[in-house]
Amino acid sequence: MKNLRDEFPLIAKNKFAYLDSSATSQQPKCVLKAVDDYYKKSHANPHRGTYCLSVEATNAYDFSRQKVADFLNAHFEEIVFTKNATEALNLVAFSYGSFLKKGDHVLLSLMEHHSMIVPWQRACKTHGATLDYIKLNNNFELDLDDFEKQLRKKPKIVGISSVSNVLGTKNNVKQIIEMAHSVGAKVLVDISQSIAHEKFDVEKMDADFVVFSGHKMYAPMGVGVLFAKEELLEAMPPFLLGGDMIEYVYEQETTFAPLPQKFEAGTQNVGGAVGLKTAINFLEEIGFDKIKEIETELTKYARAELKKLKFVECYFTSNAKNHENVISFNLKGIHPHDVASILDSKGVFVRAGNHCAQPLLRSLGLNSTCRLSLSLYNTKQDIDKLVEALKYAYEMFFKTK
Ligand SMILES: Cc1ncc(COP(=O)(O)O)c(C=O)c1O
Repeated sequence: MKNLRDEFPLIAKNKFAYLDSSATSQQPKCVLKAVDDYYKKSHANPHRGTYCLSVEATNAYDFSRQKVADFLNAHFEEIVFTKNATEALNLVAFSYGSFLKKGDHVLLSLMEHHSMIVPWQRACKTHGATLDYIKLNNNFELDLDDFEKQLRKKPKIVGISSVSNVLGTKNNVKQIIEMAHSVGAKVLVDISQSIAHEKFDVEKMDADFVVFSGHKMYAPMGVGVLFAKEELLEAMPPFLLGGDMIEYVYEQETTFAPLPQKFEAGTQNVGGAVGLKTAINFLEEIGFDKIKEIETELTKYARAELKKLKFVECYFTSNAKNHENVISFNLKGIHPHDVASILDSKGVFVRAGNHCAQPLLRSLGLNSTCRLSLSLYNTKQDIDKLVEALKYAYEMFFKTK
């Protein structure tokens, strides 16, 4: 097998330990080349021209959509390209959320990203619904007893992420969907943190809505995906309005284009879609079994090495099987921003802050954490480098204090 690090120019030519792939992953050569080729050879405005270059751009865009559909085991019409996961989540909350009525309930997990929480806050306020949350247990996992209790309110929507971007906790999405469906709820699954690591089959899972961002799975920034069951998309009103999403426009009325165009207003990111298709090919070529093997080993190693540091407080489940790629931690007595700056000076890149999950952090009694996240181009040496830099940070901080 190829040396995976060599496939990523930014990783291969630098000595730093990039431990922030949960925020954004780096791009492999094949993705960079595919996007470059698209712009050099096939770039034009899709759907609008009859000339050959526009047809090529349309084909490139359609092939990319078909690739995403095959990858998720969905139909072409069920894949809507968006700018990112955030836009996809806003689309669902605005559009499907418009069916909410006074007295309805929406149920989210407390470990959701702000991009899930904030759009549903607005949808609930607009339509007179109530927003409820599923609590966590004291092992950094969702409390399924609390979930069962909350389901008695018969929520119309349940919003859940497959993996927490703060804790790395993997949720049992299949079970959650089954439980939610048993009370008639539709389920919106945010797979932003798992899509680069584990395949998601929408049919097997019976998910109603699924969202993710391309840039967290080795594709360029600026392209995201919404999957929704066809009958739901058919029933939903469009989100953004304008060119390309219409059928006929009269002075006072408009009819809308068929799926998926109905949800794609204006000129789309064809280069990004081409990059996304290539990133999926890249992942499939390596194989998700291999990816799992590499990343499970790395996560296990990082858990063990961090646990050895008595001055580090970690926030992850004791159940290693439910833990993926992401580890939040703090150094006792040092602000996470200071820690991250010192690590940066040692060539170790981690994220510090609230990770767009303030309700979760508040529930844990925290303001912010440092977060490392692992990807298939990371190595045990990256983790060793982190550990050395953490020891340095701790010693340096307490010597200079
Ligand atoms: C779980 C989760 N959902 C949604 C998002 C939002 O992604 P984007 O900023 O690409 O829209 C993120 C980003 O970190 C995330 O981790």
